[in-house]
Amino acid sequence: MVIKTLQKRNVRILLVGDQGVGKTSLILSLVSEEFPENVPAKAEEITIPADVTPEQVPTNIVDYSSSEQTDEELNEQIKHASVICVVYAVDDDDSIDRISSYWLPLIRLSHPDNSCPVVLVGNKIDLVDESTIDGVYSIMEEFSEIETCIECSAKTLKNISEMFYYAQKAVLHPTGPIYSVENAD
Ligand code: GTP
Repeated sequence: MVIKTLQKRNVRILLVGDQGVGKTSLILSLVSEEFPENVPAKAEEITIPADVTPEQVPTNIVDYSSSEQTDEELNEQIKHASVICVVYAVDDDDSIDRISSYWLPLIRLSHPDNSCPVVLVGNKIDLVDESTIDGVYSIMEEFSEIETCIECSAKTLKNISEMFYYAQKAVLHPTGPIYSVENAD
């Protein structure tokens, strides 16, 4: 495995995903350390100072809402992100299908060289008894820009700080495969 270490001035984390998967709730749960019962359509952009992040790098967290933003605005945000969390709800198969049918191809349009790392985030694990992560591994095999995946719950706060830490780490300490099937003879 090749391990690259990059120096970055800041990390810009963008959350995308289908309506209602819990993007805004994840951000507000991280910030307030409790599940917000009433969520706005979109969270304000949040800046976390370097000294309170695990990697000591100033971090911006950016929400997306299809009801408040146009496709052009979404594409602009995708271009400027240093890492993108594609959020799905583990109890919503359609939101899982749309990771590979919609969200990852859309991200590739703005980052054709697959240069923007992606973290897959399965939210709402409080609603299911079994992990759905096995289905997600096959998506990871197909899209090499996916750095990692994590299941979490904005409601119980499980893995919330870990999720944002994984996103930071995907930018600051990305790992790439030493062997790429696409480039093999
Ligand atoms: P859009 O703004 O429409 O794109 O939605 P969103 O992805 O920002 O989702 P939002 O945070 O608005 O949450 C949608 C609904 O799911 C709300 O009713 C939340 O209370 C609920 N929700 C969010 N996270 C969780 C979770 O971890 N568990 C459960 N049970 N419900 C959740």
